[in-house]
Amino acid sequence: MTTRLGVAGLGWLGEALIRDAVASPAFSVVAVQDVVPDRGREVADRYAVPWHGDRYEDLLGVPDVQAVLICTPNHLHAAQAQLALQAGKHALVQKPLALSAADARQTVAAAHGAGRLLFVDYTYRFLESMAVLRDLLPSVGPVRSMRAAFHNIYGPGAEKTWFFSRSTAGGGALTDLGVHLLDLGLWLLRPGRVGLLTAKLSAEEPVEHAAELRLALDEVPFEVAVSWNASLSSTQICLEVETQAAMVRWENLDGSFFRFRTVRDGELLLDRETTLRDDTLRAFAAALADPSLVPVIDTRVYDMLDQAYGRP
Ligand SMILES: NC(=O)c1ccc[n+]([C@@H]2O[C@H](COP(=O)([O-])OP(=O)(O)OC[C@H]3O[C@@H](n4cnc5c(N)ncnc54)[C@H](O)[C@@H]3O)[C@@H](O)[C@H]2O)c1
Repeated sequence: MTTRLGVAGLGWLGEALIRDAVASPAFSVVAVQDVVPDRGREVADRYAVPWHGDRYEDLLGVPDVQAVLICTPNHLHAAQAQLALQAGKHALVQKPLALSAADARQTVAAAHGAGRLLFVDYTYRFLESMAVLRDLLPSVGPVRSMRAAFHNIYGPGAEKTWFFSRSTAGGGALTDLGVHLLDLGLWLLRPGRVGLLTAKLSAEEPVEHAAELRLALDEVPFEVAVSWNASLSSTQICLEVETQAAMVRWENLDGSFFRFRTVRDGELLLDRETTLRDDTLRAFAAALADPSLVPVIDTRVYDMLDQAYGRP
């Protein structure tokens, strides 16, 4: 089955998804939209997409579109996802799903109300190397502690001004990178209770460039650390789980954004290079085909962000 996609937001991520979507038998890209009109035309020409436009409402009005990929700045995600769902489309929305827990819950409710799929692109969940870690945990538990870090030696380019405003990005590195790690922690442990113990955000204005959180997932301590423009020789992305029987670590190799491995007590379990978008699209196709494969959206991630930022 081929799902016909409309893509909103044709920046770096939007185009990266299109590149892999047009190569996949599971999808065809039938419409693209960006508020910058030339961008829509250029991308449509490059990938032979039959429709392009500059108004999101017009994209939703294209009858051929069955699912919308929302790759716009963060503050638009929740409202655009809700509009897509209400228009009868499935929605794949970039992280973060919303800029508050209330908006995240409202968007999840919109999906239930419309009977359509809402899929958040928590990219790292969908990697084979992460699946290896998750599948291993039941046999080496119980988990004693967990820590995760995303220290990116780059930050968003200065030309992407929306990343540096609370109103359009929600926050800085914690929203951009931390949302992935918070999601992974909750998805892996599925705790009954989630508590934020401490949150330290660096002092840059208007958005933080680094953050450290300490959480408790039930009784399990979970530490999260993120930064942009990290003063390291290479980017570090990792998640480490200490259990009663093992130390399991998932990490990127040599600073790569695309190559990850899973190691148990020093023994390599899996080492894979990926485009990342390919994994997201495969998981999205699987969820469209089989409701039992729809990834859970834990909106408590956004409660943690609300608390860390002191949002009401
Ligand atoms: N899942 C991941 O790992 C991952 C990685 C990178 C980026 N992202 C997310 O993808 C999103 C986009 O990031 P990016 O780096 O591509 O940003 P970007 O600035 O390169 O692209 C955003 C695009 O959206 C367009 N846009 C703005 N308002 C719009 C509207 N109303 N309708 C349609 N288009 C609109 C802009 O013109 C721009 O082309 C962000 O939310 C980011 O968090 C996710």
